[in-house]
Amino acid sequence: MTVAVYPGSFDPFTLGHLDVLERATVVFDKVFVAVLENPSKSPAFTVEERIEMIRESMTGNGKIEVAAFQGLTVEYAQDVGANSIVRGLRATSDFESEFQMALMNRKLAPEISTVFLMTSFANVYLSSSLIKEVARLGGDVGFAVPPSVAKRLARLKEENR
Ligand code: PNS
Repeated sequence: MTVAVYPGSFDPFTLGHLDVLERATVVFDKVFVAVLENPSKSPAFTVEERIEMIRESMTGNGKIEVAAFQGLTVEYAQDVGANSIVRGLRATSDFESEFQMALMNRKLAPEISTVFLMTSFANVYLSSSLIKEVARLGGDVGFAVPPSVAKRLARLKEENR
């Protein structure tokens, strides 16, 4: 059985993330979406909110599990029996930092490979931080995120978060 971890901040989960996740389920038998619990990053959404939004965006695919993790991604991958880490690539600007992370992860755990999946062209320009910025300023980001995320993003503005 092929098992992968798809780690990220997912603050929040976008249609770009969903696209990569769906592609990953075509390649792997099981995909663990691993939501980083890192208070020092001061996310807009709590880890519970981020997990809930991802679950609400799923269409009942039994290959996917969503959970929080702390510490090293490779350790989480080892814990769940994954030998691949999935990361999405948008433009060439993502490449340098992703390459660095992939090589560091390989140094830490040589048995785990990072697999890059390209998002579809329609999602190339989407980023969680840009989406949050637009939502906080009252812009409509419904075209960029699943409906449950759009609802919560609208609340960000109301709650001044
Ligand atoms: O969605 P992001 O913020 O680009 O995801 C980054 C993430 C969570 C994949 C990365 O920060 C990570 O793996 N953090 C866990 C700690 C770790 O393993 N650090 C070493 C990575 S080389």
